Amino acid sequence: MTLPSIELTPRIGSEVRLTKAELLSGDYAGAIRALLVERGAIVIRGLHLNDEELRNVARTLGDLRIGAAKRGADGKVLTEGDQGVLKVSLDPAVNPEYARFLFGNLLWHMDGTYEEVPPFATLFTPYRLSREGGDTMFASTYAAYEDLRPDEQTWLDTLRVVHTMQAALFPAKRDCTPEEFAVWCTYPQRSHPLVWQHKSGRKSLVLSTSAAYVEGMHPAESHDLLERLMAHATQDKYVYRHKWQLGDLAIWDNTGNMHRAMPFEAGSQREFHRCTLNGEEPVTAPARAMAVPA
Ligand SMILES: [Fe+2]
Repeated sequence: MTLPSIELTPRIGSEVRLTKAELLSGDYAGAIRALLVERGAIVIRGLHLNDEELRNVARTLGDLRIGAAKRGADGKVLTEGDQGVLKVSLDPAVNPEYARFLFGNLLWHMDGTYEEVPPFATLFTPYRLSREGGDTMFASTYAAYEDLRPDEQTWLDTLRVVHTMQAALFPAKRDCTPEEFAVWCTYPQRSHPLVWQHKSGRKSLVLSTSAAYVEGMHPAESHDLLERLMAHATQDKYVYRHKWQLGDLAIWDNTGNMHRAMPFEAGSQREFHRCTLNGEEPVTAPARAMAVPA
């Protein structure tokens, strides 16, 4: 099926023109998946999906995550919302647990860097908007990798990075209490290759605020490298900024892009509903990395 779409920026983001019925039919699912890998983020306007429709769209595109265990900032186990639909809100009346660590979403990140197989994609639709701010930004770590010099790509292909919850959350809450920080440190860590060789053939940088340090590198050099790569990957030319309207649906490929929410007013009733598609491949280093002596 040919997908009616327009590019929102040269390197990332496409708007797809489909009706709700066309989307729910599943007839375009293969084309949407291909476009996700090619363009990183997809927006479809005017859909106004309810939760059941959101689930059904998600199921046409992949393996809907239902009831995956997560731990809140206090260590309690969370589940992935109501039959796969998670309500994302700072309002404790909507989601009292999630609101306690949602602040980390304001910084550039990938979801699920603590998992061996990070989620493939996310579907996100607004139910209530903030009065101001609250845009979502997407950055293509496919494009950022592809623009690096070949010799730097070859070097980065050999590196591994450890991802931790404290690395992800501390920059977003510098005034945390020692007790909060101690809880973050109890989360499992995960080491991933810095460069992901995807089955699709594309490669991307595995970057996120959760990236704590490069294995085997001096901490100062590791810090400088991760800062430099993050600055590189979030340049305007790799970023699409989405200004939300009610009825929108955004879908993004979590494996080759970072995302963040932009700040919005305190006490906001902003509420989004989210479905997550389980990952389909572990983070795999480029084959040539295997040939480099340790
Ligand atoms: Fe996220």
